[in-house]
Amino acid sequence: MYYPDDLVESIREKIDIVDLISSYVNIKKHGLGYLGLCPFHNEKTPSFSVSQSRQIYHCFGCGVGGNVFTFLMEYDNLTFPEAVRTLATRAGVALPDEVNSEEEKRQAGRKKRLLDIHTEAAMFYYSVLKSNEGTLGYQYFKKRQLSDETITRFGLGYSGRSTRLYKHLRGKGYTDEELKNSGLFTFDEKSGAREKFWNRVMFPIMDANNRVIAFGGRVMGDGMPKYLNSPETMLFDKSRNLYGLNYARHTKEKYFLLCEGYMDVIALHQNGFTNACASLGTALTGLQANLIKRYVKQVIITYDSDGAGTKAALRAIPILKGAGISVKILDMKPYKDPDEFIKNLGSDEYRKRIENAKTSFDFEVGILESEFDLKDPEQKTAFYNEVAKKLLMFEDELERSNYIESIAVKYNIRIEELRKLVVKLSARNAGMPVSTTYTKESGKSKKEDGTKQAQEILLTWLTKEPDIIKRISDVINESDFVEEPYKTVARMVFEEYQKTGTISPARIINHFDEAESQKKVAAIFSNDMPVMNFDRAEKERVINEIVKRIRQQSIDRITRNATSTEDLQKLLSMKAELQKMHISL
Ligand code: UTP
Ligand code: MN
Repeated sequence: MYYPDDLVESIREKIDIVDLISSYVNIKKHGLGYLGLCPFHNEKTPSFSVSQSRQIYHCFGCGVGGNVFTFLMEYDNLTFPEAVRTLATRAGVALPDEVNSEEEKRQAGRKKRLLDIHTEAAMFYYSVLKSNEGTLGYQYFKKRQLSDETITRFGLGYSGRSTRLYKHLRGKGYTDEELKNSGLFTFDEKSGAREKFWNRVMFPIMDANNRVIAFGGRVMGDGMPKYLNSPETMLFDKSRNLYGLNYARHTKEKYFLLCEGYMDVIALHQNGFTNACASLGTALTGLQANLIKRYVKQVIITYDSDGAGTKAALRAIPILKGAGISVKILDMKPYKDPDEFIKNLGSDEYRKRIENAKTSFDFEVGILESEFDLKDPEQKTAFYNEVAKKLLMFEDELERSNYIESIAVKYNIRIEELRKLVVKLSARNAGMPVSTTYTKESGKSKKEDGTKQAQEILLTWLTKEPDIIKRISDVINESDFVEEPYKTVARMVFEEYQKTGTISPARIINHFDEAESQKKVAAIFSNDMPVMNFDRAEKERVINEIVKRIRQQSIDRITRNATSTEDLQKLLSMKAELQKMHISL
């Protein structure tokens, strides 16, 4: 964090979280706060809540939460300093120049140099391709039917057989250190710098703003690996980028065509499908899905029609849906990928396949069907059960009902029969729709959970009724909270109350750098507390129970580490005291 806390806090105070979030998400007044559909996961019933009094947001569905800064960081994929700058502008707070710390300036400078290196390298590879030395590469692209226009548009190039890029870049004043960080060279003591890409046709990878941030290089024959890609660098995080997005983002279509690789994207664009982009051979990530969601709400997956492609599609579906994107799958059989398909059947035929693309549900059921032998009664039942489980995932009644009908017709099951099966399964799940997007943490022992739960409840309570701190501070204090983030939250809660007599949740959240902790802390402040509506006697009983439990755990912990009998005796009497004490409200 490069901005002083006071400055950050003064910006935060000037931005109202309800104002900010409602410019991105549709939220409505609901009870004491605001409620809307969570922008961070896919849902039909609102569980994203924003509290004006506490200046925080929290989603009861997927667990995200935080303050104005974390919202922008998650929603717009910003770093903390970027979020601070954005909100400073919005709030009309001037950021003094010195605040842009030396370290941050150095970082920005390094990044700029790396971008320049990549631009230079792309121009270099391109000019090699167009020179005599590039004949081999140029012929390869021609054999794959790429037009000169396409080659230029995608900045395709050729890394020759001699190692001239290194000399070229050194001649332009870049240091070995910088060239090493670019990922375009490897260095070893004996032979010095070596070019990573050698005798390959080159595909510059651009970010959404057309800046070259990495390369892929393909062998021109059958060598291995087929494609060599830049390593992750300061510029290139492959989980956050999509090949072709710089062009696809300008499409007028309402959907993207999502493919596997470089050549698919390029072939599609050359044939007029300028809404194609690719996740480049790696499994699609949630970050990439969020990136897509900024531009379109629907994706048609056009992965290879082999086993690997099908598996990749099955993995991508929940990730895309989790980001709130609706998904269809395009069938290219008997051809392998878009490039091959269009070469053989042409783009009109491909367009037809787009129109006939299956919904992800039909696609998944189709795969299931192929895994069971429907002539065998036992397997048939198992298949119906699996389909019913999938039907459960529709949160929307009407949508679910429509799918039940279409499945019943398709597989010749009586509608009522299938409906009953779905209801039965749903009852087994305690009436909860099975969510695909959110799984609770598991694996922790019950006892450990209980400890944390008590601490969390007490902290939640204290943030809602800070005056209770006065009543309990004789028995319990911050040292009784040992685990993060509870420990820090407790320390800040006790400190702030002592200083100001109140507690500011949004300020406390700012103290945590990591998204994981911010979520947990936001949850502490947002938890529902039915106990607040209890009468005083009942509240008193509960608070005694919780405080005693936490204190007891604390004493047990110290006991385990005690070394002298004297200590142990002291601890025993503390324990006895604890049993006798009573907090009154
Ligand atoms: P494919 O093997 O399907 O390649 O891998 P492709 O795009 O169809 O390429 P051509 O038509 O044979 O030239 C799909 C994607 O997986 C990544 C690349 O991004 C590729 O485009 N990949 C594949 C690699 O990164 N390395 C490899 O060795 C192979
Ligand atoms: Mn392919």
